[in-house]
Amino acid sequence: MTFQPNDPGMSDLFTVRTLLPDPLPAEPFAMLNAWMSEARAEARQPNTNAMTLCTIDADGTPSARVVLCRGVDEGRGVLTFYTNRTSRKGRAMASNPRVALVFHWDHFDRQIRVEGRVVEASDATSDAYFESRSFAKRLGAWSSDQSAPIESRSELIGKIEKVCERFGVDPKNPPSEEASRGVIPRPPHWGGYHVFAQAVEIWAGEGGRIHDRAVWRRSLTPKQNADPMQAFDAGAWSATRLQP
Ligand SMILES: Cc1cc2nc3c(=O)[nH]c(=O)nc-3n(C[C@H](O)[C@H](O)[C@H](O)COP(=O)(O)O)c2cc1C
Repeated sequence: MTFQPNDPGMSDLFTVRTLLPDPLPAEPFAMLNAWMSEARAEARQPNTNAMTLCTIDADGTPSARVVLCRGVDEGRGVLTFYTNRTSRKGRAMASNPRVALVFHWDHFDRQIRVEGRVVEASDATSDAYFESRSFAKRLGAWSSDQSAPIESRSELIGKIEKVCERFGVDPKNPPSEEASRGVIPRPPHWGGYHVFAQAVEIWAGEGGRIHDRAVWRRSLTPKQNADPMQAFDAGAWSATRLQP
């Protein structure tokens, strides 16, 4: 909807367009999914599923890095990514499961911020995703103690050679992707994480002027359940429009 020029409060200086639905939808995940799909379809950036993940170390130090969103459960309001669990972010999430995520689609002038609680994905989920990765990536997961220091690049190459030896792979004559299936198991320190959203803020840029912005919040109550995707009872979303 576009406000008419004679709308009260309009001036020549500001454009006041309503970019998010008015009234706001009851929940934010349909819109999050739709924006991800639009970004993927337009493909104006290589990793349209890239999101900045913020964690808090045990001593309270915040840190941020990009990871790729590998799953959106619209019904549950959960986002999934994969990483090394002994990395800096993995250790941070083990000591403090509160995380924040940011998607930014620059060409669309859109941002989505998520705050929530993280739980480790099940072995079955992590195995299935690991198996879908390329051969080189599966080998790489065994070769890198992610975030740990290393003396030199050649020492890292030495580690990769050892991993090849361990799994009987000739790096000069690697198997095809098809033949390599089932050859390399998932390392025990590598797996998925599910972020249960507690707050989602959706932001649409209005030419650097009067942006449109809204936040949805809900409660999450931990519950005992062996399935990580059932780790919380979620309350209903409540939506609030914010000043830009
Ligand atoms: C576009 C992009 C995508 C990335 N995706 C992942 C990912 O899905 N998982 C991951 O562990 N690291 C990913 N990384 C690397 C991380 O940003 C980070 O460097 C690494 O995970 C180590 O972070 P940490 O030391 O804070 O644990 C990605 C980096 C970029 C630039």
